[in-house]
Amino acid sequence: MGMLDGKVAIVTGSGRGIGKEIALMMAAEGAKVVVNDLGVNTDGTGESKIADEVVDEIKQAGGEAVANYDNVATVEGGRAIFQTAIDSFGALDILVNNAGILRDKTLFKMEESDWDAVMAVHLKGHYCCTRPFAQYIRETGRFGCRIINFSSVSGLFGNFGQANYGAAKSGIAGFSRVISKELAKYRCNVNTISPGAATRMTIPLSEARGQKVDPAEFKRGPKQIAPVVTWLASEDAKEVNAQIIHVSRGTVGIMQQPAVIRSFSADALWTLDQLGDLMPKLVEAKQQNEAAAKDAGKPEKI
Ligand SMILES: NC(=O)c1ccc[n+]([C@@H]2O[C@H](COP(=O)([O-])OP(=O)(O)OC[C@H]3O[C@@H](n4cnc5c(N)ncnc54)[C@H](O)[C@@H]3O)[C@@H](O)[C@H]2O)c1
Repeated sequence: MGMLDGKVAIVTGSGRGIGKEIALMMAAEGAKVVVNDLGVNTDGTGESKIADEVVDEIKQAGGEAVANYDNVATVEGGRAIFQTAIDSFGALDILVNNAGILRDKTLFKMEESDWDAVMAVHLKGHYCCTRPFAQYIRETGRFGCRIINFSSVSGLFGNFGQANYGAAKSGIAGFSRVISKELAKYRCNVNTISPGAATRMTIPLSEARGQKVDPAEFKRGPKQIAPVVTWLASEDAKEVNAQIIHVSRGTVGIMQQPAVIRSFSADALWTLDQLGDLMPKLVEAKQQNEAAAKDAGKPEKI
């Protein structure tokens, strides 16, 4: 008995890296999997059929999978990925929006093409792949589906040299919060992953910082993300919705969501003098809140 027996899943960008491990694990847990990958370089250029290799691996292990080579960044691509699930397996229950690229540059050097390419794959990609699924859920009344989106500390915390990527990844967290409300009546849970794993996307950054990483080590490699995503895709996760789950270096944690942590009210428009007095109090409240959250977030050994 697998945890995803009878389910159909799409995992975008699952030809390698984190997505590949998710596709392998979901198939091992009984899901029929659409392995989508355009087979691009890290910067989004080129194309190849690497999805075939993952499909072969799943089939050799006795699982069911089909390859799809469409582009998540176009509406037509998103529809074709969705249709592959319906044509091959007759239904869809799980969508993992994992495909991604990088075009790291400071804003000083970031051309419009770098901005657009990253926005298209990450932020628009989430829209293009999720919309046909959401429409299908509503039209067929399919209850209990799961959507798992991919954000990043780059957008949630901020990271130097990634204004395009960070903006898209932060946008994905906002997208998830909104669609989790829109799909709630169909009991479709929408959660967001903030991953950290040694893949071709991050190994060059680690090496540039002089850090040697071994993707085969369980606390560093992409395999560590797969069990968390697989669990979130299962029926056991029915009470977990609209959360950001951080999975990195062998830890799993839950992130804070934006919330007002201290506020003041007055009976008239704010004067500039009043704001000069209140702003330091607000900033101090935020610093205290951050320090408490940092302390509470330290990994507990199980
Ligand atoms: N590795 C990390 O530490 C890390 C950290 C934060 C967020 N992420 C996010 O996790 C996800 C997976 O990253 P990874 O590290 O496995 O990267 P990766 O480069 O190893 O894999 C990404 C895959 O997406 C595919 N892809 C890219 N553009 C596509 C498109 N338009 N259509 C279809 N497929 C496309 C690529 O061909 C590639 O196989 C990404 O969304 C990434 O931004 C990763």
